Parts: sequence; C-alpha cells; structure tokens
Amino acid sequence: MTARLDLGNIQGLLARGYRGLRYARFTVFAIPGPAAGHAALSWLLPRVTTAKAFTADSALHLAFSAAGLRRLGLPDGVIAGFSAEFGEGMTGPDRSRFLGDVESSSPRFWEWGAPQGAPADGLVLLYAATPEVLDRRQAELAGRLAGAGIREATVLDTLELGNNEPFGFHDGISQPVIQGLAKAGRGARALAAGEFVLGYPNGYGQLTGRPLLPASADPRHLLPRDPAGSGAADLGRDGCYLVLRQLEQDVGAFWEYAAEATRRPDGSYDPRARTALAAKMVGRWPSGAPLIKSPDADDPRLGDDNDFGYHHTDPGGLACPLGAHIRRMNPRDSLDPNPGSEQSLAVNDLHRLLRRGRAYGPGNAGTAVDDDHAIRVAPGNSAPPHRGTGLHFVCLVASLTRQFEFVQHTWLSNPNFNGLYDDTDPLAGSRDGRGATFTVPARPVRRRYRGLPQFVRTRGGAYFFLPSISALRYLEQLPAGAVSAPAAAATMR
Ligand code: HEM
Repeated sequence: MTARLDLGNIQGLLARGYRGLRYARFTVFAIPGPAAGHAALSWLLPRVTTAKAFTADSALHLAFSAAGLRRLGLPDGVIAGFSAEFGEGMTGPDRSRFLGDVESSSPRFWEWGAPQGAPADGLVLLYAATPEVLDRRQAELAGRLAGAGIREATVLDTLELGNNEPFGFHDGISQPVIQGLAKAGRGARALAAGEFVLGYPNGYGQLTGRPLLPASADPRHLLPRDPAGSGAADLGRDGCYLVLRQLEQDVGAFWEYAAEATRRPDGSYDPRARTALAAKMVGRWPSGAPLIKSPDADDPRLGDDNDFGYHHTDPGGLACPLGAHIRRMNPRDSLDPNPGSEQSLAVNDLHRLLRRGRAYGPGNAGTAVDDDHAIRVAPGNSAPPHRGTGLHFVCLVASLTRQFEFVQHTWLSNPNFNGLYDDTDPLAGSRDGRGATFTVPARPVRRRYRGLPQFVRTRGGAYFFLPSISALRYLEQLPAGAVSAPAAAATMR
C-alpha cells in the first residue's frame, strides 16, 4: 500500500529539482554554538520551502551535518541514532579510500569540508527564478547569518547551463519516481517512499534506522510519533540525507582525450568519432538521446527518453558499453539474479539516487560541444578552463550506505564492474593508478581505450541531514543536553 506523505512537513527539494528556478547558490556555514545556531534557525525556519504545491520565484532549503546538529545542542546519544556514515562524516576514517577521494581528490586538497578547514555544520540551498532575486535573497541570508555570529565556510555559486553539465551533455534526465511524490511517467517504476523519505516503508518494507527519542524529550509534541507504534518521538521522519560533493571537471582533458583517441589514420581529427567516443563514455549523446535507442548517431528527439532496459536489447554492451556512466549508475535490469527479470529490477531499486546537482564555473564553461556536436575548441589550442568548472553534485537518499556509498564505491569506482578488468567509471571514476581503461564492446573485437586521465576530481564535500519542518522546530527550541539517550534503535537497512 502506498504510504501517504506529509507534504507540508517535507522539504520541497525531495519533491522537485526546481528546473524553473535556474539560479542557485549553496552556503556552507560553521555554527559557533547553540545560541548562534538557534538564532539563525529561528530566522530560516519560516523561509524553508515545503513539498506542498509551489509557485514562488525562489526556494530555500536547510540541512545540517552531524557536527552541526551537535553544535545546535543535540546530544551524542541522539546523533548515534543516525547512520554511522553520517555520524563519521564524508572524511571519516577510511571513508576517503572507500569513496575514491584519494591522490588529487584527497581531502588534503579540498577547498571546503576537509577536517583541516572551517567546519561544514550547516547548508542553505537557495534557488531563484532570476539572478536579481537570487542576489537579493543571498544578501539577506548573509546579513542574517553574520548577525547571528555564524561564519560562512564557503559559498558555492552555480552556473546556468540550460539542462547541460559542463562536458556538454544533457543532464538530469533520469530520476527515480517516488510513490506519493511524483506521477509515474511512461515505463517508470514507482519506488517506495521510504527509499528517500525517512519514516516510511523502504524497498524492504521496513523503516530505515533514524533517531527516535523518548516521548518525554518532546513534551510540546513537536515531532511526529514513530509510525511503528513504539510511542517514541520521530526526529528522522519526513527528512533524508543529503550528499553534497564539489566535483571539478577537466573539460579540456575530457575532449582532448576523446579527440586524440579517435584521430584518423592520416593523423587528422575526426569530430564525429570524437563525439561518438564521448557519448559511449556517458551512455547518452550530448542531446541526451540514449545509445541503447540510437547507437550510431545523436537523435535530439530522444533527448528526454528514459524508457529502456539493457538486458534484452543489448546484453553485450554493443550499443551502450557495459561500463558507460549511466549503465553503471543505474544498471536497470542488468543485475543478478536473473538479469532481465522483475527480480533484477527489484535489486536495482535498492540503489537509486535522487539527484539535485547544479553545474558551476565561469560563463564559458560547458561550451565544448556545438550544435552539431563538433568541438568548438580545437584540441591542444585554447582549451576551455581546466580549473574551476564542474558539478556541485547533490543527491538525496534514505540510506547513505546502501544508496550513495554503494553506487560510488561498488559501481562508479570499481575497476571490475560488470566483468570488466581495469575500468572505473570513464567519466567520474578515480584512476588511482588503476582503472584507467575504457572498454567498448564491438564486433569482431572490442576496443580498449587505455590511459584515461582523471577527468573529475573531488574539491569538497560533506554529508548533511535535510530535516523535516517539525524536526527543525524541535532543533530550534532545543536546550543543550535536553535528551541523553535515544528511545530505541530503529531497524537499520
Ligand atoms: C562530474 C561528474 C559527473 C558528471 C559530469 C555526470 C554526468 C551525467 C550525465 C551526463 C548523465 C546522463 C543524464 C541522465 O541520465 O540524467 C548522468 C546520469 C547519472 N549520473 Fe552522473 N555525472 C557525474 C557524477 C556522478 C556521480 C558521482 C554519481 C553517483 C555517485 C552519478 C550518478 C548518476 C546517476 C544515478 C545517473 C542516472 C543514470 C540512469 O538512471 O540512467 N553521477 N550523469
């Protein structure tokens, strides 16, 4: 049975990606102590946008890291009710190796979110219909935070690139459909709300672990009660985890590699072959057309197409390579047991991400490909900016470990993914001395592209919790040390 979601209590980012609000800025801030945190929270709370119907020209969302919740006065015993990865943070012990944040992606080089830098306690995500509205709301925010004694750790600007990411490909096409939050389109499977919103049944039919407090810790009854009937106050319900990673894209290196690898025998460049190789890496053409439906040439009419599987049409990866970015990030019906079956789809459903990222960089970012997909910037010449361009990757999940970390570690960074040998994700994988090959299945023999440079580097990041409106109200009135222990450990999956 589909659970009924409390849309007025859920932050709107779970329901929409704000395609109409093209301008966005993300502020990461440090909280010096509970008083400053509560002052800022009191001002922010009534401005947080909910998942109810929406027509405004701007939206605001608010999230906190585990350290931030602690600084608001939430006791360690309660924070322990969140998942372990959230408590430890994105740079916790062994996490960097696990996530592929090594060598040039190491937190040692991060611009924000690293242990040695300013604490990433809180995050405000602002969205607006025009640059003017964004600037006005940002100025107001900055003034209020400063007035409360809160320090900005970083302000992440985004770049309006239409629907494209900086390599020049249409992005944000494939998103999970969530029961009760969005209408299922043609061919779309609706996933259990609890895969993304805490406090509702997940893909296992269970409630994902989240902090539950003794009812006595919530005498004003600000929080909903545990739907499992324990009587505990549910701090997690209607919230979710938010992963933010600043992924710098080396646009020049990406297109130069594709150009060099597809030179004609006479040594000249072949723009069509270059774009075709880049499309093989992504699994979609620059317009967004999936290779599985249009393997030989781009077809902008298919730019939004998301109605396909892999196993029955292309088991060997002849159309869409087995290691292409989208085939790794969402293998659809390719997984064991029984690829091509309902069982396979059901396993895949347990690893979906709700993506809310935005591009960033200077105004000329994302211009690597022109309308007929030939390169505008000649390889080796004045390449587009190598630094300062990329994606502020944002994803929302109910389980950091089973969703984001699994996809990042087991699919994106895995050199042996899907029977491959030395191939990490061709687009965003860490090379780390290995995984620098991209295999393109073909007849009579496959083609292996070797020596892929690192196209994407991590420049910052943190795990946040996107609380419900009621949880924000609870945090706002919290005297430090109000609760000493969680009521119960909820089921962890
Ligand atoms: C800078 C790095 C990245 C770039 C340039 C990039 C680019 C893209 C593009 C162009 C698409 C196709 C559009 C679409 O299907 O919506 C896509 C899809 C996707 N990406 Fe990425 N991506 C990056 C990093 C990541 C990371 C780190 C993850 C997860 C850990 C990820 C997860 C996904 C998922 C889940 C899809 C949808 C696949 C599908 O459902 O078919 N991406 N990405």
